[in-house]
Amino acid sequence: MCVQGVSIEKLGSDCLSATDLYHTVTPTSIQVYQDVPEGQQREDVVGRPVMHLSALKQATGEAVYCDDIPLYENELYVALVTSSKAHARILSIDKSEAERMPGVVACVFAEDIPGSNATGPAVLDETVLAHDKVTCVGHIIGAVVADSQVHAQRAARAVNITYQDITPLIITIQDAIAAQSFYQPIRTLHRGALEEGFQMADHILEGEVHVGGQEHFYLESQVTLAVPRGEDGEMELFVSTQSTAKTQSLVAMALGVPANRVVVRVKRMGGGFGGKESRSTILSTVVAVCAQKLQRPVRCMLDRDEDMVVTGGRHPFYAKYKVGFQKSGKVLALDVNYYSNAGNSMDLSLSIMERALFHMENSYFIPHIRGRGFLCKTHLPSNTAFRGFGGPQGMMCTESWMNDVALELGLPAEQVRRVNLYQQGQQTPYNQVLDQPTLDRCWTECLKRSNYHQRLTALHQYNRQNRWTKRGLAIIPTKFGISFTALFLNQAGALVHIYTDGSVLLTHGGTEMGQGLHTKMVQVASRVLGVTSSKVHVSETSTSTVPNTSPTAASASSDLNGAANACEILRKRLEPYRTQNPKGSWEDWVKAAYFNRVNLSANGFYKTPDLGYDFETNSGRPFNYFSYGVACSEVEVDCLTGSHKNLHTTIVMDVGHSLNPAIDIGQVEGGFLQGLGLFTLEELRYSPQGLLYSRGPGTYKIPSFGDIPSQLVVSLLRDAPNDKAIYSSKAVGEPPLFLAASVFFALKDAVVRSRVQTGLSGPCRLDSPATPERIRLACQDRFTALVGPPTSVSLGVGVGV
Ligand code: MTE
Ligand code: HPA
Ligand code: MOS
Repeated sequence: MCVQGVSIEKLGSDCLSATDLYHTVTPTSIQVYQDVPEGQQREDVVGRPVMHLSALKQATGEAVYCDDIPLYENELYVALVTSSKAHARILSIDKSEAERMPGVVACVFAEDIPGSNATGPAVLDETVLAHDKVTCVGHIIGAVVADSQVHAQRAARAVNITYQDITPLIITIQDAIAAQSFYQPIRTLHRGALEEGFQMADHILEGEVHVGGQEHFYLESQVTLAVPRGEDGEMELFVSTQSTAKTQSLVAMALGVPANRVVVRVKRMGGGFGGKESRSTILSTVVAVCAQKLQRPVRCMLDRDEDMVVTGGRHPFYAKYKVGFQKSGKVLALDVNYYSNAGNSMDLSLSIMERALFHMENSYFIPHIRGRGFLCKTHLPSNTAFRGFGGPQGMMCTESWMNDVALELGLPAEQVRRVNLYQQGQQTPYNQVLDQPTLDRCWTECLKRSNYHQRLTALHQYNRQNRWTKRGLAIIPTKFGISFTALFLNQAGALVHIYTDGSVLLTHGGTEMGQGLHTKMVQVASRVLGVTSSKVHVSETSTSTVPNTSPTAASASSDLNGAANACEILRKRLEPYRTQNPKGSWEDWVKAAYFNRVNLSANGFYKTPDLGYDFETNSGRPFNYFSYGVACSEVEVDCLTGSHKNLHTTIVMDVGHSLNPAIDIGQVEGGFLQGLGLFTLEELRYSPQGLLYSRGPGTYKIPSFGDIPSQLVVSLLRDAPNDKAIYSSKAVGEPPLFLAASVFFALKDAVVRSRVQTGLSGPCRLDSPATPERIRLACQDRFTALVGPPTSVSLGVGVGV
C-alpha cells in the first residue's frame, strides 16, 4: 500500500500513523452457549436456539410494518408544524398560505383538540400542540393534513409563525447548573457514613466526566395510522409503539373520549430501543386529533431528520465525584452528583435518574456512598428511555473514577476493579442483598477466554515498537437490576385462545421490536401446553386483548409476560381429556374438551412478588434479581489522527438458563454494538440556539460492519440458573449494552500509554463518546501543545449538551 508516494512497508513501525485502518486480521466471531439438558424432549423448544419467528420475513421484506398497511380509501397524510425556536412566545400563526396549497384538507392547531391538550407519560406537563409558547426546536405546534405526504409536507413549511424570543435560553447541562434550572425532586441515595469513609481513606480524588446522549436510530421511524370508526367516538390506531396502553390513554384524553373507544394495535416495530416507550405518543395524539376532526383515516411517518429533531434521545449525563480509597485500590467512600439533560418536559427522566443512582456503584462494593441526581430542565426536546435507562450513564461515570483510582495508584486497572468486585451476600447501596452474584465467575472466564495476560504481554511489545499507534486493553464488569423501578409496572397479562382445529392464538401484553419476545413466548406456550410450537401463533399486541399493559421495557418482558399463567389454566382444563385418551393427539383432546363445553380461552396474569423500594427510608427491594456480564476489549489507536480499530472483544454474559441462546446472543451482540456507538462514535451536536445539526447518518455516525471488533467472542455463562424468572432464565435486552465501556476504556488505556511517552502520568479526563477528536487531543504531545486545550470548536461544529 502506498500513501502519498511513501511505501508503508518501508516505514519503521515507530513511525506508523494514518495507515491501514481497516481490519488487519480476518474477522472472526465465536458464539458459545450451553446445550439443553440431555433427555429434554425433542418437541420442547425452550432453551433451544430457535430462529426469530419473523427473521426470514424481515430479511425478504415480507414482514408487515405499520407503514406497509395498504392505504385506506379516503386516507390523508399528516405533516407536523414544529418550532424553529428553542424558547419563544408564539406571537402569531398564519395558515392562510398553507391552506391554499394543493391537496391541503385542513390545518390543525391547539384549538382543534376536542379533549385535553395537556399530556405526558408520567406527569401532564406537555401539550399535544403548543399554543402560547415553545420550549424546544422541534416542539410540535400544529399539523397540516393533505392528500399526500408531499403536499402535506410542502404546506407545513408554508405555515408562517412569528415568535418572540424568551430568555434565558438553557441548552447544556452547564447552562442549567448555572441557572439552577432543575425539575423536582432531587433524588438522593445514601448509605453508610460518608465523612468517616473519607477520613479512613489513604487517598481522595475528585473529578468530573461527561457522557453524551444518543439518538435511537431505530430503522423504522415513529409512525401512526389512525382510523376513525364512524360511531360512538371509536378509533383504531396502528402504531409503532412499545406502549399500547399509554398510547390508548393519552389518545383518549386528547380526543375527550373514554379509553374503551380507542383500540391501539401493534404488530411489530422496526426497533424501539426505548424511543417508543413514551415519545411515540407525541405523534399518535396529533394524528388521532386530525383523524377525529376530519373523520378520515390519517397517517404520519416521520422522516429521519424530523424524527431526530423532534423525539429526543438518551439523556446526556455529567457527573462530579469524590472518591476515597486505600493503597490497595479498595474504594471506601464515594460522593457523586449526577446531572442529566432532561429537556423541556419530565417524561421518564425521574425514573431514568433513579436507575442511574441504582447503578452508581456498578459491580463494586462501596461501604460509604451517596449519590444525588439533578434533572436539568433545558430547552431541548425531552430526553427519554434508551436501552439501559440511565444505567449505562451511571455506570460510565463509575468506571471513569475507577480508572482514575488505578491511574492515581499506578496499579493495573484490572487489579483495582477486581478487588472491588461484589462478593456473595454483600449489599448494594440500596440495601439489597446480592444473591449469587456471578461477577467473579464471569470475570475469571472472561480473562481466560480472552487470553488476557498473553494479550497484555503482546500489547506491551507492540507499544514498545510503535510510537504513534498504541494498543489498549480493558476488562469491565456490569450488573443490571431487573424490574421496573416503578412498582406498579411490574405486572403483565396474557389472553390465549385454542381453536377447535387445535391451533393456538397467543396474545400477551408485550410488543415485538426485534428483540424476539414473541418467539420466546411461543416457546414458553408450547412447553406449557405440550403442543408443537408451529401450532402457536402470535398475531399482534392490542389494547382490546390485554388491557392496561406496562410498556415493553426494562428488559423484563419475557419474565413478566412469560409468567402470565393463561396457558397453565388451559393445560389444566385439558388435563382430563389427556388422561382419558393418553394415546390421542392434541387435536383430539381439544375437540373432546370443546364438545364437552370447556372454555378454551383463558386470561392470565402475573405480578413480580416481593418488590417495592422507598427512597425515603432506603429500604425495600427495587429489583427482582440482577443480570451480570464481563467484557474484555483490545483496541489500536492512531495517536496522530485519533482514529482506532476494534481488534478484539470477549464477552461473558450471565443470562441464567437462556430461553433461546440464538436470540440472547443476538441481544448481547446488538446491545454491545449499540453501546459501542454510544461510547465511541455517536455524537449529537447542536447550535448554540438549540438546533440539532446532526440530523442523519451523514453527520451522525452509528456503528457499521467495520466497527465490529475483528474478533468477537460471546459466551453465555454455563450452569447459572436463576430461580427468580421463567424457566430459570434472566433478562438480556439492556444489560449487555454497558459492556461496550470495555472498548472505551481500552481506548483510554491506549491514550494513557501514549501519554506516558510524553512524560504524562496520573488520571486524565476523557469524556464519552471517545471520538477521534477527543482521542487525538487526549494523546497530548508536542503537536497538541501547538493548538492548546480542546474547545467546542476543536471538537467540531456546534456544542455538545
Ligand atoms: N432489540 C431489538 N432488536 N430492538 C429493540 O428495539 N430494545 C431493547 C432490547 N432489545 C430492542 C432490543 C430495549 S430498550 C429493551 S427494554 C428490551 O429489548 C425490551 O424487550 P424485552 O423486555 O423483551 O427484553
Ligand atoms: N426501566 C425501563 N423503562 C421504565 C422503567 C424502568 O425502570 N420505569 C419506567 N419505564
Ligand atoms: Mo428499554 S430503554 O427499557 O425500552
